[in-house]
Amino acid sequence: MYAAAAWRAPLLVVWRRFGMRVFPAVILLVSILSGGEMATRLVTVFGASGFLGRHIVQRLAENGMQVRAAVRNPDAALFLKPMGDVGQITPVQTNIRNADAVRRAVHGADAVINLVGILYEGGRQRFDAVHTQGAETVAKAAAAAGCTDLVQVSAIGADALSQSQYARSKAAGEEAVKKAFSDAVVLRPSVVFGPQDDFFNRFADMARCSPFLPAFGCPFPRFKNGGLDLYGDGGSRFQPVYVGDVADAVLKVLVDPSARGKIYELGGPTTYSFVEILRLILAETERSRLILPMPFWLGSLIGFFAELLPIPPLTRDQVALLRSDNVVGGDLPTLKDLGIEPTAAEVVLPTYLDRFRRGGRFSYTRLA
Ligand SMILES: NC(=O)c1ccc[n+]([C@@H]2O[C@H](COP(=O)([O-])OP(=O)(O)OC[C@H]3O[C@@H](n4cnc5c(N)ncnc54)[C@H](OP(=O)(O)O)[C@@H]3O)[C@@H](O)[C@H]2O)c1
Repeated sequence: MYAAAAWRAPLLVVWRRFGMRVFPAVILLVSILSGGEMATRLVTVFGASGFLGRHIVQRLAENGMQVRAAVRNPDAALFLKPMGDVGQITPVQTNIRNADAVRRAVHGADAVINLVGILYEGGRQRFDAVHTQGAETVAKAAAAAGCTDLVQVSAIGADALSQSQYARSKAAGEEAVKKAFSDAVVLRPSVVFGPQDDFFNRFADMARCSPFLPAFGCPFPRFKNGGLDLYGDGGSRFQPVYVGDVADAVLKVLVDPSARGKIYELGGPTTYSFVEILRLILAETERSRLILPMPFWLGSLIGFFAELLPIPPLTRDQVALLRSDNVVGGDLPTLKDLGIEPTAAEVVLPTYLDRFRRGGRFSYTRLA
């Protein structure tokens, strides 16, 4: 302690005497003394322009990292640049299905984050090509480039035996990544909520124009124990996790070497049935709509026809995914193991679902 005070004292004298004029030299000196620990890390983020991507890029930039945003359309990703200082965030053109482009994108990077994912197939965007081969391409390139860290964002439900091809391809992707880069950290979020999410926003939007909302996984109403059982056990179950917590988790595993090689399941503080989620959305948007039980067979039938649309709002594979609960299993480490207290959906949803209220966000009647 005394030794530390002894070497700090002359530095303080210099600081008081010369102030900001010696600031850059002090930074350089500390950087050298700390073995380069303060040196900026270059992180390549695949899928940076997506919902999770934009939050993660912002978190990396806030923490002083240099970000290479590997995206298919760099012009459409220019909105990322103001999230950092001038030159801190650079979009580069990369399709994860192109091994040469992936190699160029990870060249010189210290760490790589792969967020690329699709919810339905179209053209050459197949689940296997994107989730499995794409993830493998990234992992092999990161290993060859000598990157120290790789974070692969998968999904709860990733399972080689799942009925859903999305989930099977995610599981195969995890396996391929582990094989190519054994220290890779896999993060499996449940459904993610936050501004611009595709789940809560979609149902809140539906509540605006549709007289009913579908509760997937609920059987049709039937008489049970002398009464009408409307929703059975409430349909598929979820543990929604806040996008800010997922971004924090990514940052934590990047800077904590003890996370290397592990798989984390990321869920929020509460588990909800599909019916409970719809009620939550209706409460936040101050709308009253009929919640319609939607058995899986009916969902699949609707998915069959919806798949004919260029951007299908529902597919049979998504319905197959809903057949399994989307909750943290309990065997793998979670947000709490990373020292992150999960944020409740009830805290964040009002901040972005209020625009779906009748009259917009300024019509809030439940004033505190
Ligand atoms: N959001 C959730 O609730 C949730 C839950 C569990 C797991 N996840 C996983 O988390 C990851 C990120 O999800 P998200 O919600 O941020 O998805 P998203 O908003 O759809 O973003 C996906 C990103 O992948 C990019 N992409 C798609 N195909 C590509 C290709 N061939 N080459 C390069 N980039 C490609 C997209 O870029 P373009 O703009 O060019 O299409 C987009 O930036 C995904 O792997 C997803 O499976 C998400």
